[in-house]
Amino acid sequence: MLNWNIRSSKASEKANSDSAITNYLDTLKSQEIGFFRLPQNRDLFESCEKTYNKFKHKKYFIHIGIGGSALGPEMLLKAIGNKSGVEFVFFNNIDPDEMQRCLDQVNLKESLIYVVSKSGTTAETVAAMSIILAQLEKCGIHSADYKDYFVFCTDPEKGELRRLSKEWGVDALEIPSNVGGRYSVLTPVGLLPALFAGMDAKALLLGAEDIQKHLNDPKVGAEFFQLAGYIKAMHDKGITQTVMMPYSSLLKEFSAWFVQLWAESLGKEGKGLTPIPAYGATDQHSQMQLFMEGPNDKVLMLIEVEKFQCDFEMKNSVPSDHFKMLSPFKLSQLMKAELEGTLAALKENDRHVVHLKLPSLNEEHLGQLILFSECLTVLVGKLLEIDPFNQPGVEAGKKYANSWLKSNA
Ligand code: PA5
Repeated sequence: MLNWNIRSSKASEKANSDSAITNYLDTLKSQEIGFFRLPQNRDLFESCEKTYNKFKHKKYFIHIGIGGSALGPEMLLKAIGNKSGVEFVFFNNIDPDEMQRCLDQVNLKESLIYVVSKSGTTAETVAAMSIILAQLEKCGIHSADYKDYFVFCTDPEKGELRRLSKEWGVDALEIPSNVGGRYSVLTPVGLLPALFAGMDAKALLLGAEDIQKHLNDPKVGAEFFQLAGYIKAMHDKGITQTVMMPYSSLLKEFSAWFVQLWAESLGKEGKGLTPIPAYGATDQHSQMQLFMEGPNDKVLMLIEVEKFQCDFEMKNSVPSDHFKMLSPFKLSQLMKAELEGTLAALKENDRHVVHLKLPSLNEEHLGQLILFSECLTVLVGKLLEIDPFNQPGVEAGKKYANSWLKSNA
């Protein structure tokens, strides 16, 4: 089971939190907020299985979406890997040059085009879909055929995609209306791509369910509240940056996913914790200098993967001390040494560290890490007395971009 340990001289600092904890627990139970109950939502999973069975002959999976509609599935793909023969292409931005490269990688006639947008109105997603529609036209594929090429994932009732799904007879999976974009990876947003990638998508949900139960244990729950209280207490002392640094290349996209979750949920009303994505050991040769000796304004969350699935001997007979030193060890042991070395050095420099341990990187443990991160974000949000589910700042930018388009039409 995922576990954590605060390694900081200020570990006992805690925020005054009783009302925030009550508020957090009420939020988890409330019908208005749905992410916490996703592991129990069998209907959503079954709808994905049905769609997968219908389209599993497709050779390419084109994922169109941005922000919470893309970062989760990209994280799953990177962390667990693509175990199927289906090729994935993510249209997650509006860079015209990248768009061309993505189009060059696929054969539209053999593609399933998965358009993910909770609102159904996001300009970047609408743009990518428009471009694909034009390309389909060129291939002689018209609206009557769209049901064989598209699947949508959107709000159960509202929005343009829901309307178009009815007009074109395209299947549309649901993002429950009480689950926001950045909390949606365990809905069809992430589950359908997971199935196409040959993952054990059910195990993702089971892992999330396991951590749910684990956090309900009074002792573990108290430690969890302590962790969030510590992060909030650090925030109040001006330690307002959060480094997310898994010691795993495969969790690099997890850091990117976490950045969105943490920043968009917690950065508002002049408060917030600035997330910094990193990954070990690579960033020991980059950002670590700053983390170690720069301003002491960061909480570093280091994730250890306790058991890698593969390993390599470093046994060698090269006549050099640098080679000889490594010879008795495996690659995973070098990763461990680098992590332990960094932890010791960070302690010596009185840095603020949370050491998380993931038993291994599989669907079940990733499910645990996802729900744990979401719960931590919500609890820290409650402690900061902000709403971790809205994003008014993002909305404002969207509004001005739309008015720019209108006035330049
Ligand atoms: O977390 C969020 O709510 C946002 O990042 C959205 O996911 C993002 O803006 C995309 O929105 P939509 O899914 O409506 O296209």
